[in-house]
Amino acid sequence: MKAKELKQKYLQFFKNKGHQIIPSAPLIPENDPTVLFTTAGMHPLVPFLVGQPHALGSRLTSAQKCLRTGDIDEVGDRTHNTFFIMLGNWSLGDYFKKEAIEMSFEFLTEVIKLPISHLAVTCFNGDEDAPKDEFSAQTWMDLGISKERIAFLAKEDNWWGPAGVTGPCGPDTEMFYWTGKSIPPQKYDPEDKRWVEIWNDVFMEYYKNDEGKYIPLKQKNVDTGLGVERVTAILQGLDDSYRTELFWPIIEKIEKLVGLTYGEKSDSECIQEGKQCWVDTRKKFRIIADHLRASVFILGDERGAVPSNVDQGYILRRFIRRVVRHLRTLGLAMEKIDLVPLAKFIIEMYQEDFVSLKEKREFILGELEKEQEKFKRTLEKGLNQFSKLAEAGKEINGTDAFLLFQSYGFPIEMTEELAEEKGLHVDMLSFQKEYEKHQELSRVGAEKKFKGGLSDASEATTKLHTTTHLLNEALKKVLKSDIRQRGSNITAERLRFDFNFDRKLTSDEIKAIEEEVNKAISESLDVVREEMPLQKALDSGAKGEFGAKYPEKVSVYTVGKDYSKEICMGPHVKNTSELGHFKILKEESSSAGIRRIKAVLE
Ligand code: SER
Repeated sequence: MKAKELKQKYLQFFKNKGHQIIPSAPLIPENDPTVLFTTAGMHPLVPFLVGQPHALGSRLTSAQKCLRTGDIDEVGDRTHNTFFIMLGNWSLGDYFKKEAIEMSFEFLTEVIKLPISHLAVTCFNGDEDAPKDEFSAQTWMDLGISKERIAFLAKEDNWWGPAGVTGPCGPDTEMFYWTGKSIPPQKYDPEDKRWVEIWNDVFMEYYKNDEGKYIPLKQKNVDTGLGVERVTAILQGLDDSYRTELFWPIIEKIEKLVGLTYGEKSDSECIQEGKQCWVDTRKKFRIIADHLRASVFILGDERGAVPSNVDQGYILRRFIRRVVRHLRTLGLAMEKIDLVPLAKFIIEMYQEDFVSLKEKREFILGELEKEQEKFKRTLEKGLNQFSKLAEAGKEINGTDAFLLFQSYGFPIEMTEELAEEKGLHVDMLSFQKEYEKHQELSRVGAEKKFKGGLSDASEATTKLHTTTHLLNEALKKVLKSDIRQRGSNITAERLRFDFNFDRKLTSDEIKAIEEEVNKAISESLDVVREEMPLQKALDSGAKGEFGAKYPEKVSVYTVGKDYSKEICMGPHVKNTSELGHFKILKEESSSAGIRRIKAVLE
């Protein structure tokens, strides 16, 4: 079965079970300052998992684009990817453990027909925060999974979330498939890597607060995630997801380009024959294919980023530059390195399912070309510089690593990788110091974001959400009526709002906008939420973000009688009198024809 069929079957199965299909949210989350990328299907659903009603009801399903940088060092093996597609189904306070497990089982054994003889599961073993999950284990046994194929594990293995420091979370039950060539053993052994995890049903009934306490949520939710790349490989009887149609055509292109083969044999066969170098070459193929696919999806996202030294742009830069370097280490001459034809090919492979890739084709190719050319100019010199340093000593100190970063464009992770290949160490602490001396806290900030919590529905962010609607309206009144939102980002401290306008605002205009927002605040306008079909919302004059994709049924927030009407997921305050005093901190250019405002409530 191909990945496409797996996806269709999954969504259809859950649709038949009363779930509404929601479109994939962008890879770059909106209004979530604490993470750089969407890392799971549940991510865009956090407000609804903590109690906000969803316009499409309490049963949802999706195929979500995800990106995880936590596993970046694993990429190169046969199962890990940075970018991947996650199929998921959600119960927002609707069904719970029994039905979730029964549906997973039915899908696995009846729809995609995996033999029960090859399945095993794990359940939560219980601790001081939550009891042992006997119920899930019993449900699996009632379905025919033998006791020996069920393992009870601790929190490290059988608990999911929160995605950041705080947020919804809970015990989970994970499903494994035997990928070994031999007959599956009777007893499941969590240590045996031939058992590959394929699906995770999370029972989100807790909220981890900022004191680290697990508080029972008002509603008991289900959040599941099935990795398309892995399951596709299993369905095709392959033990390497790069051999599926999701990657193989890219691998073949790389083979042609570099004049080397990926090889017929599996990794373990090669190692048995002592062909470690062959495996190393294959690892590079995989890194190139994975990172280039991820780069195409970041650039081609609805909220796409460009290469830079901060946030998503930095991750993108790292991916692209790593691809360039690995093509070179596979022996490709510098002048022959060109990611554009490979990227064109990836766009063609995926554009039917992800239309933004098609719409942003020229942009993706243009940015890739710019970034690769920029790096190609300094790579050779940088590598010479590195060789000199490597010859000289055992450690790359902070000043040298910073020189490679600043003058030759080597992301620090690349220097670390180069050093590791030579058995050397990089003094990261002194690099950090050097970096902070020279740069704004950019990358360090980005790293922190990975560790931060998910956006919550805190009071401060809720207020700023509503303020954003007022600002959108005020801009139309003061500047011109065809202003459209081009982006929004809210932290507990400030709002950031991008809109189309082609020049700098005057101080009088800024003052007038502030006055307009503060007037709406002082008028104590009610904020009302209604659910309606998308078309009806648009017909009623509700505004949406330019270029954003909405599901068929949406929430519309109206402020005052008709002051502002926007399609939005919320959350919002009940009345504008709750907001406080509005102040614009900064007005600047964001990109050509787009201005950016940063503002606060005092
Ligand atoms: N959030 C869970 C995971 O990522 C289930 O989707 O595994």
